[in-house]
Amino acid sequence: MTQGSRIAIIGTGNVGAPLGRRLAGLGYRVVFGARDVGAAREKLQGIQAEVALPKDAAVGADMVLLTVPANVALGTARALELAPGTILVDCTNPLRWDGGPVWAPPAEGSMTAALAAALPGVRVVKGFSHFGAEVHDDPVVSGMAADMFVAGDDQDARQAVLDLGTALGYHAQDAGPLRNAALLENLAVLWIQLATTGRGRQFAFKAVGR
Ligand SMILES: NC(=O)c1ccc[n+]([C@@H]2O[C@H](COP(=O)([O-])OP(=O)(O)OC[C@H]3O[C@@H](n4cnc5c(N)ncnc54)[C@H](OP(=O)(O)O)[C@@H]3O)[C@@H](O)[C@H]2O)c1
Repeated sequence: MTQGSRIAIIGTGNVGAPLGRRLAGLGYRVVFGARDVGAAREKLQGIQAEVALPKDAAVGADMVLLTVPANVALGTARALELAPGTILVDCTNPLRWDGGPVWAPPAEGSMTAALAAALPGVRVVKGFSHFGAEVHDDPVVSGMAADMFVAGDDQDARQAVLDLGTALGYHAQDAGPLRNAALLENLAVLWIQLATTGRGRQFAFKAVGR
């Protein structure tokens, strides 16, 4: 994934908008997928990006980032009718609230696994998911690049997402196969638990080493 690559971002909310702004600023060709194109164009003014209906945005994209609520992720992704081989990055977290965040994955074991099962041939990778959306604006926190873990079964697709994370300024790290997407969804639960019980939202995880 090099500068000039076409990246579709489905969803223009807390996660999609800053990712698109940063990627466009780095020279990627960003096209947002929105169900209300007019409203999205207005909201995204100032970002050098196209806006189209979700299915049109995904046509010809080198990578598609899925940044919609988890409860509509499967339906939204299916409706894109992605070509086999497309890299789909699942940025969603399947959660419910019960006095705090609770992981609520589909039967496949994670949202990422459910997407992979629903979209045969599509290379599904979990990424950009386990910290607050604010971090996308500036992935350097207290002088250190925030960790951004990536999981999926296709090694080349995983590497492409790692490269994109690195280009954005993260310390992008390979978290292994698709089954580990469940770990990343739970890392998001931990982040929300901490953020909502006094830690605030301006932090990210960092594995320190010697
Ligand atoms: N917020 C965070 O800090 C954070 C961090 C990590 C991961 N996540 C995950 O990222 C995902 C997005 O979170 P968010 O905070 O960005 O949500 P958000 O601000 O509510 O934005 C969601 C976006 O999805 C669009 N959307 C909703 N339903 C849709 C549908 N049926 N078809 C097409 N587009 C649809 C919305 O479009 P409209 O504008 O038309 O409603 C909106 O642009 C969630 O799965 C969340 O768990 C969030």
